[in-house]
Amino acid sequence: MRSWLFGALVGLVVVPSVSAKTCDVTVSGNDRLQFEPTELSASAQCPRITITLVHTGHLPVNVMGHNWVLIRTDDYPAVMQAALHTGIANGYLPEHDARIIAHTRLIGGGEQAQVIIPTKSLRRGESYTYFCSFPGHGALMKGILRID
Ligand code: CO
Repeated sequence: MRSWLFGALVGLVVVPSVSAKTCDVTVSGNDRLQFEPTELSASAQCPRITITLVHTGHLPVNVMGHNWVLIRTDDYPAVMQAALHTGIANGYLPEHDARIIAHTRLIGGGEQAQVIIPTKSLRRGESYTYFCSFPGHGALMKGILRID
């Protein structure tokens, strides 16, 4: 009787799904030019992916500004080059550049910014790179986004 009851109770335990969709991700940036994490994956089943950038540092935006800019990895060298010819007024991003899939605004220490990306603008299996376009940051502050 006791073992039957135990078996029945075990059967009732709800096992959390290990394949839960990841649709909302947070990336932090600090005063030492580091993004954390440097690898992200999100599910193609999400209608949209929400990226929240949190600047955990203390320095102001004109000194240690961070943004989160998403491009195809193949476009990374050219977009980095184009960003060099911009200014803080444009958030250090070239205007109307179709290679930029999504980006947050530029923020300083203690601030947060969010961007929502419709998943239909992303392809499964493509390699995407995210980086900070503040001058001199993108070589260190970058990561890879994968769509599963
Ligand atoms: Co930065």
